[in-house]
Amino acid sequence: MKYNSDRRDFIAKVSAGTLAYLAAYSIPSFARTSNDPDKLAILGGVPVRDNMTWPQWPYRNQKMIDNLTETTKSGIWSRIDADKTRVSQWELDFAAMTGAQYAVATGSGTQSLSTSLFALGIGPGDEVITSPYTDMGTVSAIITCHALPVFVDLDPLSFQLNAKDVENKITARTKAIIPVHMLGAPCEMEPIMAIAKKHRLYIVEDAAQAHLASYKGQKVGNIGNLGCFSFQGSKQVSCGEGGAVIGSDKQLMDKVYTVMNHGTARTPMVDANGKILGDHVRIGPKYRMNEFQASVLNGQQDTIQQRFDTRNNNAIYLREQLKDFPGLKVQKMFEGTDSASYYLFGMSYQKEHFNNADRSLFLKAIGAEGVGLSGYISQGLHREPWTGYIMEQQGYKSMFGKKRLQQWKESLYLPECDKACGQMAGLYAVGTLLGTRKDMDSIIAAIMKVHKNRDQLAKLA
Ligand SMILES: Cc1ncc(COP(=O)(O)O)c(C=O)c1O
Repeated sequence: MKYNSDRRDFIAKVSAGTLAYLAAYSIPSFARTSNDPDKLAILGGVPVRDNMTWPQWPYRNQKMIDNLTETTKSGIWSRIDADKTRVSQWELDFAAMTGAQYAVATGSGTQSLSTSLFALGIGPGDEVITSPYTDMGTVSAIITCHALPVFVDLDPLSFQLNAKDVENKITARTKAIIPVHMLGAPCEMEPIMAIAKKHRLYIVEDAAQAHLASYKGQKVGNIGNLGCFSFQGSKQVSCGEGGAVIGSDKQLMDKVYTVMNHGTARTPMVDANGKILGDHVRIGPKYRMNEFQASVLNGQQDTIQQRFDTRNNNAIYLREQLKDFPGLKVQKMFEGTDSASYYLFGMSYQKEHFNNADRSLFLKAIGAEGVGLSGYISQGLHREPWTGYIMEQQGYKSMFGKKRLQQWKESLYLPECDKACGQMAGLYAVGTLLGTRKDMDSIIAAIMKVHKNRDQLAKLA
């Protein structure tokens, strides 16, 4: 009956994205000692989801397998092996799907963000404003350009950066804002775009979790200068590892391609007399997606929209069921949100409605009922050791100076983010929200069972 502490330790060590995945699909089981429907499963009762299974995830189909076989046999494994390849086809399909003019595929979401910042010319001594409640990939992209990530606090209950705090964080060095569409829901883009316009800042949307989500009639990723996506294993659109940048400015997207392709342009540079100078034209790492990744993506392309719609319908149902329940507050959506992509169905645990039981006890109890909710990101990125690391780097000291770095350290006080991390009880939604109405009802039933029997939670402490 003891909760497996090895498993818990393991979960604490894996990345944020994977953590959510494990929570929903690896439900611990406990010895049964009672048929009493009100006995919590973790204390020996019958789980709400007894003998029920979630839809298989990651999504897979025969077309992906056929594509992989064909790619293997063809010997065309890299996008540079032919003019038209699976990667270039995916770029066309993904651009069409997201409503962008162009897409450039990359090897991961982190690479898509990094490519975008390099393409916009962001580099040493620049500052980039973003959210502390995101994957390390967002920050990694900023610091690999040797820029400084500057955090704004969260908007309560939305798990998104607070647009009202953005302007306070702008300095003379600020070059860009990376709004993150967290959990798959659009963040509040209208005021963020207005601030960017006023201060002439670039916007790189981190839509790594938000494929096809829409805000005020536009799919996310198209609102700012560039939009970045992840196709990592836990994502709604997945090929294990992968990413893409979308945009509609041809010149900028040509730069994105060049950066992704280790600084090598599609077409050679020529001088004023038409003399060819060469095609290695700027700084760029090598971030190409390969043909195997694109084979898996091509294979699922015509079914992505359908899964997106199913998740939205189920999320609307769950939201309606929980609207008057004070114990869990469902992620706040900003005015203008048309649809969300639902990486997580985010909920905020209100312990005062559960006899003041710690969130960890609630998560254990509901997990035993067969509904794995996750605390997801355990602490905001402002609390992670990389902040101390860059303070010590000679490069950062020379670029920013002692005073600015000290100010920056002091700015890493983000109480709303800390609160959100402590309250999150999120349902990893990519597969679970593809379930039936019966599955959705079981989620609600499990929540209500734990709530009704909240006096039993103290026994788990
Ligand atoms: C919000 C966010 N940004 C960036 C990334 C980085 O993407 P990738 O893991 O594909 O590098 C992720 C992935 O977990 C993410 O969730």
